[in-house]
Amino acid sequence: MDIGENGAEFVVVANRLPVDLERLPDGSERWKHSPGGLVSALEPFLRSHSGAWVGWPGVADADVAPFEDDGLLLHPVELSAKEVEDYYEGFSNGTLWPLYHDVVAQPAFHRHWWNAYVRVNQRFADATAKVAAQGATVWVQDYQLQLVPAMLREQRPDLKIGFFLHIPFPPVELFMQLPWRTEIIRGLLGADLVGFHRPGGAQNFLWLARRLVGLEPSRGTVGVRTRPGVVQVGDRTVRVGAFPISIDSAGLDAVARRKETQARAKQIRADLGNPKRILLGVDRLDYTKGIDVRIRALYELIADGRVDPEDVTMIQLATPSRERVDHYKTMRQDIEQSVGRINGEFGRVGKPVVHYLHQSVNREELVAFMSAADVMVVTPVRDGMNLVCKEYVACRYDLGGALVLSEFAGAAAELTSAFLVNPHDLDGVKNALQAALDIDPAEGRRRMRALRRQVLTHDVDRWARSFLEALGTQTSV
Ligand code: ADP
Ligand code: F6P
Repeated sequence: MDIGENGAEFVVVANRLPVDLERLPDGSERWKHSPGGLVSALEPFLRSHSGAWVGWPGVADADVAPFEDDGLLLHPVELSAKEVEDYYEGFSNGTLWPLYHDVVAQPAFHRHWWNAYVRVNQRFADATAKVAAQGATVWVQDYQLQLVPAMLREQRPDLKIGFFLHIPFPPVELFMQLPWRTEIIRGLLGADLVGFHRPGGAQNFLWLARRLVGLEPSRGTVGVRTRPGVVQVGDRTVRVGAFPISIDSAGLDAVARRKETQARAKQIRADLGNPKRILLGVDRLDYTKGIDVRIRALYELIADGRVDPEDVTMIQLATPSRERVDHYKTMRQDIEQSVGRINGEFGRVGKPVVHYLHQSVNREELVAFMSAADVMVVTPVRDGMNLVCKEYVACRYDLGGALVLSEFAGAAAELTSAFLVNPHDLDGVKNALQAALDIDPAEGRRRMRALRRQVLTHDVDRWARSFLEALGTQTSV
């Protein structure tokens, strides 16, 4: 894949660029790494294959010319403050995000949000049409850009277009609530290949293509990376498959093995007063992640006398996210209150039970935290995949540590040797936490070995290759 003279042969289109523009109080600007799993997964793949990336620079009214960043051509798409409000915070994160995550928060349906979504999707399609070389492969990402495949095909029928959804695709009964449901399905059908994390998402989409667009999709069961569904749209065949995303497993394993990383992990333990056990949570501060669930479970375990706060400390790293969206504001207040409560009741001076950092840390520091943690707690009420749990496994080359993982994360289908929990069942979460804290070392190593076998052999490169091969694109440079 190459950047041709007359455009790029391979183009990724995502709401965000891999870097975010940050405006500092003194008026200066700098670029920083963008948050979230999409960038964590795609960036290492793209950087090793070259190509172009079309996306928003992360702040309103930023008119930035295309630039090259370490071999990758970045094409910024400008959004006005009103568009950020209506397209990004509104339709993407106030309508689609809660709707696609099992309505764990109430989605809002506003026509002016939808209109902004259409307008901005058209802008992304127009920008991509200008950037892509004749016959290029374009890979459109995620729920913010579901209309782009059809809009792009309209202008550039020569392109090979793939679409991948990074979040769950909802049960059909929930999707049917969306006033613009047919438009979304038609938008996605503009792609040659539509990819989901799990076969269930693909099956739901195929059902909707029949019900809403009157097409005749295949009826066979979709497999993981195999047996994609097919649907004929005019003279085109659209394929619909399941491609579970993953991480740069070998890269994280290598960082974890560094002497400096292990020294930093030791320092983190010492800074915490060398507790017997460290629990760790790492998430964007999002209401789907079940951060409240794990804090409540720990609170009750201490209150029941089953866990001694002298022995156990929890670290919760929470990246700030979508801070102007109402559900996020409320959830932040709730979580910060519950951290205050557990520390107020069970902490002592110099020894809080939960260390809560509303911050993002860099990759090396993240690996050090994961190396220091005895139990990684991943309890989303719904998550398309969840990369954090895979990252933890990749870091544990020593076969130490234990993973508590929600059944409602896509990753649960692959990481079956984790302590799997139903996050709605608080007693179940408490029991799993306690079992993970008390695990026999030999049993822990057995589980971790099985988890690592999965994560190291199914990395992000394999994910991207399987998707692009199904799309019919050569993945060699
Ligand atoms: P999502 O895409 O919904 O944010 P994922 O678990 O798939 O969820 O991906 C989150 C990514 O963001 C992971 O790569 C994780 O390591 C990273 N991340 C989350 N919180 C932090 C944090 N506080 N500091 C650094 N990285 C973080
Ligand atoms: O797939 C999860 C996702 O929504 C990505 O699309 C997104 O880039 C990431 O999480 C972070 O969210 P945001 O871009 O809204 O900060």
